[in-house]
Amino acid sequence: MSTFPTGFLWGASTAPHQIEGGNLNSDFWANEARMPGMERSGDACDSYHRYREDMRLLADHGYNAYRFGIEWARIEPEPGMVSRAELAHYRRMIDTALELGLAPVVTLHHFTNPRWFAEAGGWLAPEAIDRFRSYVDTVVPVLDGVEWVVTMNEPNMLAMMTGLAVKMQQAAEAGAEWQSPTVDEGPRPPLPAPDVEIGRRFVEAHHAVRDLVRERTGAKVGWSVANRAFEARPGCEEKKRELEYIWEDLYLEAARGDDFVGVQSYSAQWVNEDGIEPYPPHPDNTLVGTAFRPDAIGIAARHTAEVTGLPVLVTENGIATADDARRIAYTEGALKALGEAAADGVDVRGYLHWSLLDNYEWGHWGPTFGLVAVDRETFVRTPKPSLAWLGGIAKTNGASLTD
Ligand code: BGC
Repeated sequence: MSTFPTGFLWGASTAPHQIEGGNLNSDFWANEARMPGMERSGDACDSYHRYREDMRLLADHGYNAYRFGIEWARIEPEPGMVSRAELAHYRRMIDTALELGLAPVVTLHHFTNPRWFAEAGGWLAPEAIDRFRSYVDTVVPVLDGVEWVVTMNEPNMLAMMTGLAVKMQQAAEAGAEWQSPTVDEGPRPPLPAPDVEIGRRFVEAHHAVRDLVRERTGAKVGWSVANRAFEARPGCEEKKRELEYIWEDLYLEAARGDDFVGVQSYSAQWVNEDGIEPYPPHPDNTLVGTAFRPDAIGIAARHTAEVTGLPVLVTENGIATADDARRIAYTEGALKALGEAAADGVDVRGYLHWSLLDNYEWGHWGPTFGLVAVDRETFVRTPKPSLAWLGGIAKTNGASLTD
């Protein structure tokens, strides 16, 4: 059965805006307030205060890694105004992870920007790259002891979300419903393709901070790319390559020269001569409307390794479901597919499940991805069986996966 290399990272992932609560100075918080139909993040899971408890859940169940992010809007709530208290907060989080035996995998940017940054023209403003570099420069001193740094989370999805935000703004003005960036379902129009111009800006941003982080921390540096695990219908290989470039390869090619690449995949999707086929309605579809495809992570890891030539770290993989037995079945299938890719020579360094907690899914609270449920009023954490199940696999480094 599949085995994973010694030192393999077994953990779960989170993002600041989705779990911390009260991310008042971020652009997403501001958008939540004005988009009809969008749920608010509010106190989220209050992980800003409860991070030790969250990390303990992982450590106590046999995991050795935790991916979390640093929130730029907290570090620099106004241009050039650095919060030393917030820097100290994230340093405490890193210390807590290390104390509990969890390798911190730290993300510097996970979709959200400071509100002032967005209002000053966002990523297309001429100063955008300098602003990001300056933020990263501020954060680097607290990263001591961190071995894995993700500069940006899913720049390709962010490039799509940025285009979508413009549409959402217009929709809000016209009194229409907001469209979710991550729920791909129903009669709504398909999500727009990532904006290539913005995508190239993200490439510039990533390259601008990569060496800075590497040289001053000694960490392995990479970024994480969402992978849609495209599969071509007969005769549609060319169309698939075209779409792959816009959705993934632009970002994967830019990862060459990094130390690793983060792979994030949830489902696989067919491509025909007209483009991406919507997921057909099916009782097995997840709560975000995607097809139940545990094998997606195998397709994604292989494609990512082939394009980049780099070691891969699964920085996200999981399923939105209310049925935890489905989560276990999905994850078991995903780990088998990943093990097969590893056996075929893909250099896989770890598996970080999305997500540790049921959290704020970018405008909704409905889709639950967590290994742990969270009561939104009391913030009480209730582990689901999947937390112990995956921890059990972690303890045997994958050897206990059944055939
Ligand atoms: C993002 C997460 C998100 C997850 C599930 C990824 O696109 O990085 O923030 O919650 O997928 O949709």
